[in-house]
Amino acid sequence: MLNRTLALIALVLSPLALAGELTQNSELVQTCGACHGVDGNTLLPIAPNLAGQVPGYLLYELNAYKSHNRMDDFMGAFVDPLTDEDISRLVVYYTKQKFVPFIPAEQVDPVLVAHGALLYKREIKKVGLSCADCHGESAEGVENRVLLKDFPRLAGQPYDYLFSNLKQYSQRMKHFSMLGMKVAAASLSDDEIKALATYLSNLK
Ligand code: HEC
Ligand code: HEC
Repeated sequence: MLNRTLALIALVLSPLALAGELTQNSELVQTCGACHGVDGNTLLPIAPNLAGQVPGYLLYELNAYKSHNRMDDFMGAFVDPLTDEDISRLVVYYTKQKFVPFIPAEQVDPVLVAHGALLYKREIKKVGLSCADCHGESAEGVENRVLLKDFPRLAGQPYDYLFSNLKQYSQRMKHFSMLGMKVAAASLSDDEIKALATYLSNLK
């Protein structure tokens, strides 16, 4: 399934994409690697891992930055100069890298983890779905589950990144493509966001 999607992205976006496959030494990979790591495993707690992320999701987000639907002080300047071909080659590169969970520095509170696990699997009444229904039972990310959408992997992403993104969704400050995600986050309190981010960042 993964290989089929990769092949499809390469085919649709650029017939040449696979001809010049990126490596760790490519200039583009080095540039992005300053924050996301050259193997797509982040060096900064506020930036997400890109390694092993669902390909359709990476493609969607890079195009969202490029069209300025998703704004970020860090990212905008780096994505603006990318061509469609650069984007498809980056997606292929990162999807092939092995995901290594970001190790949190602090001791983990087991009560908070357990609370987060409950929230993650609880049905959100207004949506009729739980976080797990969209993002996967172990938050591993899912291709084409609901309405043929791609849902990002959340497991093992840095706590700070998860917290800040859930907070942005809950305050309606973040662009979204799926109403379900917006409604799901809208009802979350700060304590719940903290529990969810703790649970998810500690999943392998
Ligand atoms: C100066 C640091 C920095 C550099 C360099 C950088 N990024 Fe980022 N990137 C970030 C941060 C921080 C975020 C998280 C923004 C947010 O919280 O919304 C991010 C988010 C992303 C996302 C969204 C992923 C998700 O899970 O939602 C993608 C995709 C991405 N970057 C790809 C790239 C690519 C490709 C490059 C190189 C062209 C690059 N980045 C260069 C810091 C950086
Ligand atoms: C109806 C499906 C759906 C539900 C339910 C849902 N999400 Fe999402 N989520 C998405 C989609 C799709 C995205 C990608 C952004 C977009 O398209 O809106 C996303 C994005 C995210 C992101 C940003 C990931 C990144 O790498 O930038 C986080 C964090 C997240 N969801 C956490 C949650 C949590 C926690 C819950 C439960 C409270 C939840 N989601 C419920 C569909 C869903």
